[in-house]
Amino acid sequence: MNHRRRISAFSLKDRGRDSAGVAGMRPPGYGRLEPRAGSVVAFHGGKGGVGATMLAAECAWMLASRGSDVVAIDADLERGCLGYYLDVPVSPESYSLIDLVPVIDELTPRVIENALSVGSCGARLLAAPAGGSPRTVDATCPAKLLGSLAERFSTVLVDTPPALDPLTLGFLLGADRVVFVVTPEVACLGTSRGVLAEMSASGVSRDAVDLVVNRAAPGDGITAHEIERYLGLPVALVLPDDARRCRRLGDAGLPVTSEKSRLGSGLAALADLLF
Ligand SMILES: Nc1ncnc2c1ncn2[C@@H]1O[C@H](COP(=O)(O)OP(=O)(O)OP(=O)(O)O)[C@@H](O)[C@H]1O
Ligand SMILES: [Mg+2]
Repeated sequence: MNHRRRISAFSLKDRGRDSAGVAGMRPPGYGRLEPRAGSVVAFHGGKGGVGATMLAAECAWMLASRGSDVVAIDADLERGCLGYYLDVPVSPESYSLIDLVPVIDELTPRVIENALSVGSCGARLLAAPAGGSPRTVDATCPAKLLGSLAERFSTVLVDTPPALDPLTLGFLLGADRVVFVVTPEVACLGTSRGVLAEMSASGVSRDAVDLVVNRAAPGDGITAHEIERYLGLPVALVLPDDARRCRRLGDAGLPVTSEKSRLGSGLAALADLLF
């Protein structure tokens, strides 16, 4: 897996309707690689609502459909909705990270298996707690949980909430890669620069961050090149906006990649880039 190989930056303004599509912008020779055993990828938004959960779920769907042993953690303890994206039946009886805290030092394969819900796509999910009230979890939990899951699963995906609290930071620090999602708008980019600085100051290596620009549209005023310069990171991938498709397929419990589209191709390119 070569994470240094990145999709070259391009101007959002330059993207015509007839362009080859996002997947077509991959550099020559870019190949799909099998997930390495126990890799951990966390998804974090530079601002709320930029699509971090959707991207995590799409990766889980794709990896599961490729036969990979994948588990997703919903680390958004207050408003986690990964279960909806993954079409996993989640009930108040479903286990969450909160239930694992008391046994975090004794995570046997049986305990882990019992705690996970299974989606129609085959991916396992450690669901968000029902109820959505604020909770405090010891910041050492992420490392322990990720260590145990990475022993059992070939890929561990973590969907984090937008707040950069100690729990979220624990997951970001424990991940091999962090998919950092932004949208091409001033409010998001301004916030994101501060978040990236805080992540770096907290020990998250910038080399581990894959910057994804989501919801790009023709005529956007801010180019990928400007985003790179402003955030000081190369853009790994630009995904187009396709709100109707996202909503329609999401409501039907299906992934965006279940039908052919430019966004679907872009999401497949994301999975190729990461795994
Ligand atoms: N490329 C896209 N085109 C259109 N809509 C999108 C795209 N990506 C995500 N969305 C939509 O944006 C909304 C927010 O997505 P999502 O919940 O994944 O964001 P988030 O960053 O996880 O938000 P939160 O901060 O609440 O956790 C959803 O309605 C989703 O369908
Ligand atoms: Mg989310």
